[in-house]
Amino acid sequence: MFKRLLVTLTACSRLASAVPFPQSGVSVQASNLDACPGYSASNVVKTDSTLTADLSLAGTACNIYSEDLEELKLLVEYQSNERLHIKIYDAGLNAYQVQEEVLPRPKNGNTASSDAALQFDIVEQPFSFKVTRKENGEVLFDTSAASLVFERQYVRLRTSMPKDPNVYGLGEHSDSFRFHTDSYNRVLFAAESPNIPNNSNLYGTHPVYFDHRGDRGTHGVFLVNSSPMNVVLTKTESGDQYLEYNTIGGIMDFYFMAGKQPADVSKQYADIVGYPAMFPYWAFGFHQCKYGYWDVNMVAEVVANYSTAGIPLEVMWTDIDYMNLRQDFTTDPDRFPVTKMRELVSTLHERDQRYILILDPGVHAVDYDTYNKGHEMDVFLKAADGTDLLGVQWPGEVAWPDWFHPNTAQWWTEEMQAAFDADSGIDIDGIWVDMNEASNFCADQNCNPRQKAIDDGIPPKPANSPRPNTGRPIPGFPNSFQPSSTGSSLKSRDTKALSPRQDVWGQSKGFPDREWFNPKYDIKSHRGNLTSLTIYTNTTNYDGTWQYDTHSLYGHMMALTTQQSMVTRRPALRPFVLTRSTWAGSGRKVAHWFGDNESSWEHYRTSIRQMLSFVAMHQMPMVGSDVCGFNGNADEYMCARWALLGAFQPFYRNHAADNARTQEFYQWPLVATAAQKAIATRYKLIDYIYTALHYQTTTGAPMINPMFFLYPNDTNTFAIQEQWFYGDALLVSPVTTDYSDTVTYYLPDDVFYNYWTYAKYEGRGINVTETNLTYTDIPVHIRGGTIIPHRANSANTTKALRSEEFYLVVAPGRDGKAAGRLYLDEGEMVQQDRVSEIEFSFEGGTFSAGGSFAYAGADGESVTVASVVVLGREQAGATGTFDAEKGTIEVSGPWELSGDWGFEI
Ligand code: GLC
Repeated sequence: MFKRLLVTLTACSRLASAVPFPQSGVSVQASNLDACPGYSASNVVKTDSTLTADLSLAGTACNIYSEDLEELKLLVEYQSNERLHIKIYDAGLNAYQVQEEVLPRPKNGNTASSDAALQFDIVEQPFSFKVTRKENGEVLFDTSAASLVFERQYVRLRTSMPKDPNVYGLGEHSDSFRFHTDSYNRVLFAAESPNIPNNSNLYGTHPVYFDHRGDRGTHGVFLVNSSPMNVVLTKTESGDQYLEYNTIGGIMDFYFMAGKQPADVSKQYADIVGYPAMFPYWAFGFHQCKYGYWDVNMVAEVVANYSTAGIPLEVMWTDIDYMNLRQDFTTDPDRFPVTKMRELVSTLHERDQRYILILDPGVHAVDYDTYNKGHEMDVFLKAADGTDLLGVQWPGEVAWPDWFHPNTAQWWTEEMQAAFDADSGIDIDGIWVDMNEASNFCADQNCNPRQKAIDDGIPPKPANSPRPNTGRPIPGFPNSFQPSSTGSSLKSRDTKALSPRQDVWGQSKGFPDREWFNPKYDIKSHRGNLTSLTIYTNTTNYDGTWQYDTHSLYGHMMALTTQQSMVTRRPALRPFVLTRSTWAGSGRKVAHWFGDNESSWEHYRTSIRQMLSFVAMHQMPMVGSDVCGFNGNADEYMCARWALLGAFQPFYRNHAADNARTQEFYQWPLVATAAQKAIATRYKLIDYIYTALHYQTTTGAPMINPMFFLYPNDTNTFAIQEQWFYGDALLVSPVTTDYSDTVTYYLPDDVFYNYWTYAKYEGRGINVTETNLTYTDIPVHIRGGTIIPHRANSANTTKALRSEEFYLVVAPGRDGKAAGRLYLDEGEMVQQDRVSEIEFSFEGGTFSAGGSFAYAGADGESVTVASVVVLGREQAGATGTFDAEKGTIEVSGPWELSGDWGFEI
């Protein structure tokens, strides 16, 4: 009876009718959010570059989802000509504010408001504000249509939008690249997301959107808030469109970026969250992984099979299979013994190949070194009784590192240093951090982790390991790869003395007393309520903040810590860290893959739009999806297409689930042929894309361009999500229909050249259909006006590639001009003492190369240009060889890349 009454009350209060608000005892007095009183501004103080005001609740509290806050503060800063900072926060400084260590805030340049591209206007009664692009009066943000609601566990702010706006970003999602805006909800809350469902919160959260208004400009809005939230894009009954933030914590901390070109917004976003990391040259090689490579022999076999098949493999990966009982920093003594692992790695290294291993955040809470040390150093999140909070991940019962604890980085780094020591451990080249949303196999706080692990049978017992020895040698590997079997048993953990829960007021750490599990405003995570299958939201971090607010930062913090550990381990080398969960600014340190997609044509297509958002809008350039798909069985035709598609995405890794069929590229002759072509093409273009990455790391201009970034006034480009520019010169238009040999793609009103034949094509701003495309074909066009550096030949490894000469392809635009660039450095070191930054240009028949030329190459490396090919020529010139069929003039060098040079054709 009592139970039933409670259910009824909850249901009513969700509808926000006049029932007592259970926690605080206040009454819900408004029947709906529209009746919330809003705030009135007072003490408005303006300086040349700032505005501050006090905001007071303008009427009776509505207490819809929790208690309204009476007093707020407004701070407006014109931080630069293009950046406006608007912060609305609680006067009591209790609502959580994202820590500086998560997001170091950008320097405030204190621009005079008169110089700024954006203008802030305040309405005092009732409080609302407006942001306008000064140059053309375009209103970018206007909150006047609905009152601000600011409660302990709910904040709402709504802005009007133009009709059918072009809005992008707000990752991570698998939805359309340009959002539907009639009735669309983006849920932001990091979550393990098998099969990356649509209309759902996925692994990471990036609360930034781009609003593109064609020739009226593009701007961006970044909300620094990591709390669970909904961003709703919808239409009112009368047809007015709006975007509305609904967060269940935190503050409204906005950065407005003025653009006005799309790529300007990318750059301005990088000014806030950080410019992306420069990755090693080898990271652009081809990577192979699979969950279920049973033992070290099998790993070696895959490597050898790639060689035999003549498909270059740059980086081999091993999933959790290598661990002993799936414990971080251990290896299975039978299937992956350290001695054998060391032999594997040294064999790979001798062949200029690389090796990467996985780590998960959940540390097996049993008597083993990593756990014991962590426990001693007190690095784990605590349960209410002060013991290590436990959950379940791959090893079974696990404790969760608290990335905000001051000892955690040291502990984690020491573990990494020991396990991955070059002299005694596994000398990895990169690391992969997974399951860091964090994913918990325990459904909720009522779960008994030990029982759950037992019930689920984890960790699984290695079944009569190892596999029988076949007796055949593995080409290229020592003959010693002979597995054998043992087992090991779990010991129970001991717990530490109780430590009190944090209870901090007035330091912006989040209100201590909240409804943690089922706040009244339900963000509708696809995983269920807030604590479903993750770390419980009522858990405090060491610094006094709460998982409720910082949940979506867990993976970001793990990734940053791991990246720092890699730096400590190898200070001279650029670290390579791949993470599943990300937050705003993760790209300044780490790479990301899009998680557990399916081996389906749908997810082949989805990978394109996910890449576009991450590279161009989230400043995370080193991204890609599991090529050929993770869950389910890949088929030959799809995998052939995906091998080609993936070659034109930044991070190129074939990976599959343990229960999926093997899908290495050599498994089918057709896929092998497609992959050979794909990898050869990618490798010849590595310097071009490496240059583009470097350019993004220094300027913020994205290395992958959505079509509207390069054609911002062409409305036909705004929704395109199955074509993209690889760099700023190569338009990739893959076949996207299942099992089809035909693709219809868009060519803007510009000149293009077929990448494969050099044939010139005048784009007319219409769709073009190409047919008879085999499974080893992918349409690619060179955009007129560009110059692309290539290596003359591909190679087996990126190291060998560096000995190949360059050739340059000059693709003149309609005005007869072209330009391009080439960045050269040693490829691996953090500190590059000598680099070349070369600019190529072509104009009026004159080609010239200029810039700085300090990188002379290492032993055996080539930094010479063998030839330059100019496209779109109708007749022979004074120099070079004219090819009438292709319409090219090829001028032969060689030219040293050691100083300016040029010629006339
Ligand atoms: C997660 C990862 C996947 C990995 C698996 C086992 O599902 O997303 O890539 O293979 O865990 O570690």
